[in-house]
Amino acid sequence: MTSRSTELVSFLRTLNEFLVPRVSGNAQKLVGRIDRKLAFPGQTKGPARISPPLVCTHLFPALTDAANSDSQLSPLVNELRTLEPSLVWRPRTAGAGASANFLNDHANAMIIGPGGIEERSDVWIGLSLLAPGTRYPDHNHAPSEVYLVLSPGEFKQAGGAWFSPGVGKTFYNSPGILHAMRSTPDEPLLALWLLDVEREE
Ligand SMILES: [Fe+2]
Repeated sequence: MTSRSTELVSFLRTLNEFLVPRVSGNAQKLVGRIDRKLAFPGQTKGPARISPPLVCTHLFPALTDAANSDSQLSPLVNELRTLEPSLVWRPRTAGAGASANFLNDHANAMIIGPGGIEERSDVWIGLSLLAPGTRYPDHNHAPSEVYLVLSPGEFKQAGGAWFSPGVGKTFYNSPGILHAMRSTPDEPLLALWLLDVEREE
């Protein structure tokens, strides 16, 4: 089925409306390219829900904290709450720099992209959730990426220092750049990412 559910239409519109005034430069170009690609829906899959891992107990508290920290995030937070029953959370493999608790204390959910609610290869939009005190491995990928940070937490690019963008902030990962993230000892990390898989430029 290639029609898009009303929930997904609403989520994508709300996400775009939040991002457009908050991105510039390469991030702005990426958001524009993704918006143009998403004008053509991909394949919508039927329900394939598996029981969420334990780390997902942090999801709703993190969403509530996000809306409380930045009221302009409330519409997007509500969209994510609506999508939650359709999310399938999966771990990724560990790698360099990952904390010892990483495998049990993180999960990713693809919303748009391979294995996502909308199956397609050219755009990936998803979520990463880390329990408090968890470090994601250093990783890289060819597609450029924009992160929308929805919680406290720290991020790292290439050989740079850890930085804390803050709730509601965005940043851009250039193609192939090594990057990582880690939650603080007391708060989960929740971040949304958008990857433009086949670059047009
Ligand atoms: Fe990434």
